[in-house]
Amino acid sequence: MARLKVAVLISGRGSNLASLIEACAAPAFPAEIRLVLSNRADAAGLAHAARAAIPSAVIPHRDFASRETFDGALDRTLQAAGIELVCLAGFMRLLTPDFVARWRDRLINIHPSLLPAFRGLDTHARALAAGVRFAGCTVHFVRPEMDEGPIIVQAAVPVLPGDDAERLSARVLEAEHQAYPLALRLVAEGKVRVDGDRAEIAGIAAAPPSIFNPPRETCQ
Ligand code: GRF
Repeated sequence: MARLKVAVLISGRGSNLASLIEACAAPAFPAEIRLVLSNRADAAGLAHAARAAIPSAVIPHRDFASRETFDGALDRTLQAAGIELVCLAGFMRLLTPDFVARWRDRLINIHPSLLPAFRGLDTHARALAAGVRFAGCTVHFVRPEMDEGPIIVQAAVPVLPGDDAERLSARVLEAEHQAYPLALRLVAEGKVRVDGDRAEIAGIAAAPPSIFNPPRETCQ
């Protein structure tokens, strides 16, 4: 089976990129990373691409007069590489509605909250301030509005007593590193069908059990 040709767009650390590279290294994985793009030359994540011998390019947004021309350069680079799916992984630029429309349902993102809660930045500090019992991450198709779009995969992690934003973000990040490869696999296998604002996943055999935080047995 032909593997889906993927590009990963980053701006920084690239730990999600690393998890996708690792997943794609398995011979049976249905996707391959053909290109890594960064808007920043100093993105630490570029080293992950180099180590895996994946072609990468830097397209500095500061070299462009407008978001439109920057996104045009991104689009041309992706097209030239024959990319079929774009994964945003800590890519810190807002994309224009035109770019998002061109890549509709072929553009996915990971966000460190259980959307639609806590869109935007500082999700972990805001989740702690709100006193939620679960935090987590969401992989979703991208729509023009920030952090919106049909949800593919979510992973929930408990918020624990004594958590600060750093500890919570480390726990969520571990979940991200499993959620993104899972979402990519489902999309690449053609199991995800977008229907309006929702994504349907084919072939889910069983539902996970409900989980409680605090655990029920500690509250009797
Ligand atoms: C992750 O928390 C991701 O959810 C968010 O930006 C962060 C990127 O981390 N969109 P990394 O660069 O993948 O390590």
